[in-house]
Amino acid sequence: MPSIAVVGLQWGDEGKGKVAAYLARGANLAVRYNGGPNAGHTIMYSGKTFRMHLVPAGGLVCGTAAIGAGVYVDLKTLSEELKESREVRPDLRLYLSPRAQVITEIARRAEEFLESMRGERAIGTTRRGIGPTAVERFGRVGLRVADLLEPDSLQEKLRDIVTFWNLKGVDTRALADGLSELFSSIEVEVTEVNRLIRERLTSGGTVIFEGAQGTMLDVFYGTYPYVTSSITTSAGVSIGCGIPSRWIDVIVGVAKSYTTRVGAGPFPTEIHGDIADRIRSAGVEYGATTGRPRRIGWLDIAQLKFAADLNGTDEIFLTRVDTLSGLDRLKVCVGYEGYEDGEFPVTVSELSRVRPVYAELEGWPPIDETKRGEILREGYGALPSQARRYLDFVEENLGTHVKYVGVGPRTEDVVER
Ligand code: GDP
Ligand code: IMO
Ligand code: MG
Repeated sequence: MPSIAVVGLQWGDEGKGKVAAYLARGANLAVRYNGGPNAGHTIMYSGKTFRMHLVPAGGLVCGTAAIGAGVYVDLKTLSEELKESREVRPDLRLYLSPRAQVITEIARRAEEFLESMRGERAIGTTRRGIGPTAVERFGRVGLRVADLLEPDSLQEKLRDIVTFWNLKGVDTRALADGLSELFSSIEVEVTEVNRLIRERLTSGGTVIFEGAQGTMLDVFYGTYPYVTSSITTSAGVSIGCGIPSRWIDVIVGVAKSYTTRVGAGPFPTEIHGDIADRIRSAGVEYGATTGRPRRIGWLDIAQLKFAADLNGTDEIFLTRVDTLSGLDRLKVCVGYEGYEDGEFPVTVSELSRVRPVYAELEGWPPIDETKRGEILREGYGALPSQARRYLDFVEENLGTHVKYVGVGPRTEDVVER
């Protein structure tokens, strides 16, 4: 499989990092194509836990990573993350696109202002400066990695950004010096990532594209305006890496066995109370970037169908079948009253009014460490029969093959179906 895209099908945190790491065994290059330090990809690999925000999780596994033009880069996060990664993987090579956008203090200040301006309608962003940095890009005042290679004109460019946001009291000299100094301390190779990918693929290599966020947070197709400022669908691979879409051989859509969301915005299958608390604590469902408790809901096949169609999903990787274990019964949303298959509300007011239609299924006994060991030794057949029925049900209703099943947090806690 020469090129595989990993995309989130829900509202983020589906387990994309783990999936990318799993698929990166034997790959030659792992590439991040979208998002920025708003992402938090936790992987357990070689007995250690890593929380990755910018460096592709798959890079820790295959040793060569790249950050494409579609990524918003925070130099401090990148610097810290690279240091930590190289403690365990000293040979890690990281390529950085000169076209990637740089997040500055100015964008974080602008975001604080924009979020507080919205008051109760605040998006609940990660406050990493993503939205304003995206605005700067399309407003044609943004700072790119290539600009850091031309320190003489850096201050002038920063002044333009300050003027753009109409901010006062920003010391652009200090900011320019700080950025230059930090950048020169980071051991990355600035190179056109599109050409690198082309070289790897034409010489028979395998490349993993690791997405950030999820389809429902996409700036075009997500639950706008409660979205992020990136293209989070598989279309983001082509834009964020500079390769034609037809160069992606397989699109793996990642979904949890239930649904979570951090931040504000409508969430049709959201649940509160005992079951939600139980899933949250069993799954340690707290944001990897901000530590906020994640909102919990049942699996939503109406939403997943919309997402799977948008992405052209070839295969599903369903994570956390172990987290959902131990419940007597569980629900799955199979559609919204009055909506066709694959149809999804356009506005948040419409989405907040939908009435999910639920199917009730039997739960399965707890998947603890012993049971997990048995499943990993014996394969898919060792999953509890109710869990297998759940997976069959999801596959039939979604119309996409559920190929991989996550049964634990470690990179290797996977059974193929
Ligand atoms: P991402 O942002 O999509 O990469 O997902 P996060 O890393 O934010 O959240 C997913 C969490 O679930 C991580 O802590 C993973 O280690 C964990 N995880 C992934 N797959 C599984 C699974 O199948 N079972 C369990 N128990 N945890 C999983
Ligand atoms: P990963 O890659 C979950 C959410 C924020 C907020 C909205 C906008 O780990 O799946 P932003 O800071 O991007 O402007 O915030 O998007 N959000 C995420 N939620 N996982 C993520 O990334 C997210 N990245 C952004 O909570 O609701
Ligand atoms: Mg995450």
